[in-house]
Amino acid sequence: MGRKFVVGGNWKMNGDKNQIFEIISNLKEASLDSNVEVVLGIPAIYLAYVKSIVPDNIGIAAQNCWKAEKGAFTGEISPAMIKDIGVDWVILGHSERRTIFGETDELIAAKVDHALESGLKVIACIGETLEERESGITDQVVFKQTKALIPAIGNNWNNVVLAYEPVWAIGTGKTATPKQAQEIHATLRKWLSTNVSEDVANSIRIQYGGSVTASNARELGACPDIDGFLVGGASLKPEFVDIVNATK
Ligand code: G3P
Repeated sequence: MGRKFVVGGNWKMNGDKNQIFEIISNLKEASLDSNVEVVLGIPAIYLAYVKSIVPDNIGIAAQNCWKAEKGAFTGEISPAMIKDIGVDWVILGHSERRTIFGETDELIAAKVDHALESGLKVIACIGETLEERESGITDQVVFKQTKALIPAIGNNWNNVVLAYEPVWAIGTGKTATPKQAQEIHATLRKWLSTNVSEDVANSIRIQYGGSVTASNARELGACPDIDGFLVGGASLKPEFVDIVNATK
């Protein structure tokens, strides 16, 4: 079976009730390609609100969670809470979590482990910095970040989407070229076939993220190893519809 294209909209720390209402109304009116899975990454405080207004054909995700079910973790939310309000997904390991909040491969793996155990589906983000790319170690960085996730994922690969997001392309307007993105996606898939299994390598969906817009989505989406996008800035705009429909 082919890999279903999956487009995520990561709103990050943006939006208020009015803007959210407008975004969701716009998506409700749009005709979204039914061959594409759509998942919106919502700030925690608005998850329940979005859940109450979003149509069934759109999934939603928390943008982070903690690695335990409950307890003395002031300010955190647990996978159990996310599930409790009917949300199915969580985004983990985003480069902003890694760089701004100091999340390590180990912590991210622990979160992925617990989120999957709790029955959530996970969008797990990986990607190199500009410095790493310029030093020619992109592959090693991506392999190392993915390797840390392997024991955490265990047999749960069907509940995981990998999002390759080169840090230098995030919010910069500098997109990886389709050739650059395809190359690393294919390399990662090959690495997964050796280090996990051929089956996982063939079935895992790998999104590209980093300055995806309506104008570059078609070309990126046509690459054989790009199975979707994780969209930041443009997911707050009406053009998100065109990004979802880019492979139509
Ligand atoms: O998670 C999505 C992301 O980091 C890319 O953001 O604004 O470059 O599309 P943006």
